[in-house]
Amino acid sequence: MVENGSITAAGLISSDPDPFKWRMGVKPLELANWLLLDEQRARELEEIGQLIDRYRDDIIYCESNAIPVCEELATEVLQHLRQIPGFELADLDDQAPSLIEAIRRIIQEDICVLERRPSGWTMTACAVAIPTQWDVASKFGKTLDTIHEPVPRYDIDLSQAMSTFFDRLRPEKPVWRANRTLTDDPSLRLVPKRRHQPMRNDITVDNVADQVWLRVEYQTLRRLAQSDAIIFTIRILRQSIRSVAVHPEVLAELLRSVSRLPADVRDYKDSTARHAEIIKEWALSTGVLTQQSLEKH
Ligand code: HEM
Repeated sequence: MVENGSITAAGLISSDPDPFKWRMGVKPLELANWLLLDEQRARELEEIGQLIDRYRDDIIYCESNAIPVCEELATEVLQHLRQIPGFELADLDDQAPSLIEAIRRIIQEDICVLERRPSGWTMTACAVAIPTQWDVASKFGKTLDTIHEPVPRYDIDLSQAMSTFFDRLRPEKPVWRANRTLTDDPSLRLVPKRRHQPMRNDITVDNVADQVWLRVEYQTLRRLAQSDAIIFTIRILRQSIRSVAVHPEVLAELLRSVSRLPADVRDYKDSTARHAEIIKEWALSTGVLTQQSLEKH
């Protein structure tokens, strides 16, 4: 099995603006890192297949005009996978109910297809099986602004910048960015109610290191040359807090960032903010971090 071990959840933690501001945070993407393969692949793809069978109408969406985009995407995905040394690819299942579903079943990434409409960049197709606490079906056929409505400050910090960025994205300049969440739920698929549901009441300083995970969404954006659509992929990378703490400076950066979240964002990222408090207590009590490292800028 091919392994792309260089991209890990902890490795994608970078410093946030102080004071807090959402930022685009996009960086150039090397195409070799577009779709990632790791040793979890077989297990994840099996689970994803089962999720699609069970929740297809909440996962898969495709407008008829997006079919040519999916055809171009299928070619890109197969070409990407075929050039990975040592990787034996199962072909796309031509019996799948839609091409976007067939693509989703052979990669570890969730996929969103965006096309330019007079109202703005619009999600005209998607296959999102393992969202991080968001309601996928409510975003079908919606613009970026509507999709991001639950995100506080999106309109001030991101809306205009994103629209300009999407307009200007070029096929030869793909990018990546990352979002992060702290969760006590080890499932691949996180439903939205887990954002605000009371935290598991058995998470304590004694078990937080093994019962809470850093969950990073490794996101990529590529414009397709033929159809002019934009492909947004989301790959979930997870690590226990204990394994993140092997890099104390990463853990410190993460906790400093969460401590700077303003009240409205803290409320939106509820599970993250609350777990961070217990992780901080654990890190200070075990000597993984010092008070000084948490105050550093
Ligand atoms: C450069 C591009 C993008 C930026 C800068 C961006 C930014 C963000 C930010 C800051 C959040 C809040 C994340 C958090 O919880 O920490 C968010 C959430 C989200 N983003 Fe994006 N995003 C981008 C592209 C997209 C695209 C292309 C889609 C889908 C088509 C998308 C779908 C979502 C969804 C569904 C949420 C969660 C909203 C909810 O809570 O219901 N994003 N995004």
